[in-house]
Amino acid sequence: MQKKVFLKTYGCQMNEHDSERMLSILREDNFISTNIKEDADLILFNTCAIRDHANEKFYSHISEIRSLKINKPNIIVAVGGCISQVEGEELLKKYSYIDIAFGPDNLDNISAMVKKVTFNNQNNQNNQNNQNNQKKQKREKIFDNKYDNSPLYSFKETKFVHGNPKAYVTIMKGCDNFCSYCIVPYSRGREKSRSVDEIVSDVKRLVEFHGIEEVMLLGQNVNSFGRKNNEGKDRKDNSNENFVTLLTKLEDISGLKLLRYTSSHPRDVSDELIAFHGESKKLADHLHLPVQSGSNKVLELMNREYTVEHYLSIVERLRKSNPRIKVSSDIIVGYPGESESEYEDTLKFLDQAQFDFIYSYAFSPRPRTKAFELPATLTREQKLKRLRHLQLHQISIQEKVRKEMVGEKHVILVEGRNSKFDQSKSQNESNKSNGSNEPKETSLMWRGRASNLRIVHFNPFDSKRDFNFLWKWVEIKITSSTAISSKGQLIRVL
Ligand code: SAM
Ligand code: SF4
Ligand code: F3S
Repeated sequence: MQKKVFLKTYGCQMNEHDSERMLSILREDNFISTNIKEDADLILFNTCAIRDHANEKFYSHISEIRSLKINKPNIIVAVGGCISQVEGEELLKKYSYIDIAFGPDNLDNISAMVKKVTFNNQNNQNNQNNQNNQKKQKREKIFDNKYDNSPLYSFKETKFVHGNPKAYVTIMKGCDNFCSYCIVPYSRGREKSRSVDEIVSDVKRLVEFHGIEEVMLLGQNVNSFGRKNNEGKDRKDNSNENFVTLLTKLEDISGLKLLRYTSSHPRDVSDELIAFHGESKKLADHLHLPVQSGSNKVLELMNREYTVEHYLSIVERLRKSNPRIKVSSDIIVGYPGESESEYEDTLKFLDQAQFDFIYSYAFSPRPRTKAFELPATLTREQKLKRLRHLQLHQISIQEKVRKEMVGEKHVILVEGRNSKFDQSKSQNESNKSNGSNEPKETSLMWRGRASNLRIVHFNPFDSKRDFNFLWKWVEIKITSSTAISSKGQLIRVL
C-alpha cells in the first residue's frame, strides 16, 4: 500500500542530502512525498542546530504538529538531524507526540524505525479492539543518537528522482576541528572519510544511470579528506588517498561536466589543490572558503588555526592558478570579546579579499561549545547592528566586483524561468522611461548558474521562444551585472 511522507529539512547542504538519502530509503517501502502535512502517514523533520534561529524555527514547527496528531493518532512523527542528536532525549520528553528521535549517524535505519512504530501502533489498535482489553496502551518511542562506530564509513546508493542533472555526494562526515563557536563536532561526531573507490563508483553510477552532470562533493572540511580513513583512524603516511587524488579520479569520469565541493578549511588548503584549480577541466571556477573573521586575535579565540595573512595568500595563489575563480566566504560578527577595532579589521579584510559573496551571521552561543561559557560582551542589538553594516559594506564591494563580468562569455546550466518580474534597478529604470511605474513582465527570461556560481538571466532568441531551456547548458555573453545577479545574451545552446 502506498504511504505518504511530509519531509521538512533545515540547515546545510549536508542535511539536504541526508534528506534525499532518507527519501531514497523510504521509497523502497512505498512512501511517496507530499507537501500536505494533513495527508501524511509520516512527518519527518531533519533539523539543524547551528544557530539559535535554526532551533527556534524547528521548535515552532513541531508545536504545530500537536493538533494534527490528536486528529490522526496513527500518524508517525520522526525528528532526525543535528537538534535530535544533541537534545533528542529532551525532545521526546517534552513533546509526547514525537515517536522517533535519531541523530545523523542513524538515518540509514529510518525504514526499520518507522516499521517498528507502525507495528506497535497496529498492536495497540488490536489490543484496544479486543473487548477484554480496553486499557489504553502506552506508545513506545524510539531514540537513537549513537555515533557510528562501525569499522567502515560506507552507505547505500542514493537513488535520485528529482529529474535534474545535479547531485550531492557526501565524501566524509563529522568534524574534528572544534572551532570554539560551533556545534557540528557534537552533532555530527568524529571525522571519517568514505573510500575513494566507493565515491568514484557512486559518481560513475549517478552519471551513467541518473543523468547526473554536475556533482557537489560534501563534507564539513573536505580538504582533510582521507586524513582519517574510512575506519575513522589516522592514515599511515604512505596512504595516497587525499582530496586531490579523489578529484583527479573524478575528473576522469566521462559524462561528468562540473565538479563543486564544500566546505573548505583554510588551514588545510594544500598547494596541490591550488594547482589543481588551475589544471582541472571540470572543477568549478568557484571556491567557498569560510574565513569567519578578519582579525587574527578573534581567529585565535575561535580556534581556527590560521592567520588573515595565510588566508589572503591562499586567495592570491588561487587567483593566479585560475584567473576566472571567484571566492566566497562565511563571516561571524560579535564573537565574545570582539572589540570595535577588531570588527573594523573584518571590514578592512573584506576590502582586501574582494569576495564574490559572503554568508554572514551574528554570533549565536551554542550549548556544549567553548564559546558558550564566555561572558557576552555585546547585546543582540549591537551584534545585529555590526551584521547589517558588514552586509552593506560587502554589497558595495560586490557591485564593483561583479561589474567586471560584463563582456565575458560564460557557460551556464539553466535552472528555470526567471521570477515573474525582473525587479532589478536597470529594469525599473527602463520602465520609467516607458512612462510605466509597473515592473515589466519578463517571464520569458530564463535563469541559470555559471561555473563561478553567479546567477545569470537571459532572453531566448525569438526563434527559440518556445524552446524548453530547463537543465540545458548554454553559452551567454554578459551584458549587465548588479551585486546580486547578471544579465546576458544567449550565444548558443551547447
Ligand atoms: N564546516 C564549514 C566551515 O568550517 O566553514 C561550515 C560550518 S557551518 C555549517 C556554516 C557556518 O555557520 C560557519 O562557517 C559559520 O560561519 C557559521 N556558524 C557556525 N556556528 C555558528 C555560531 N555559533 N554562531 C554564528 N554562526 C555560526
Ligand atoms: Fe564547525 Fe569549524 Fe568544523 Fe566548520 S570546521 S564544522 S566551523 S567546527
Ligand atoms: Fe546545521 Fe547540522 Fe548542517 S547543525 S548546518 S544541519 S551540520
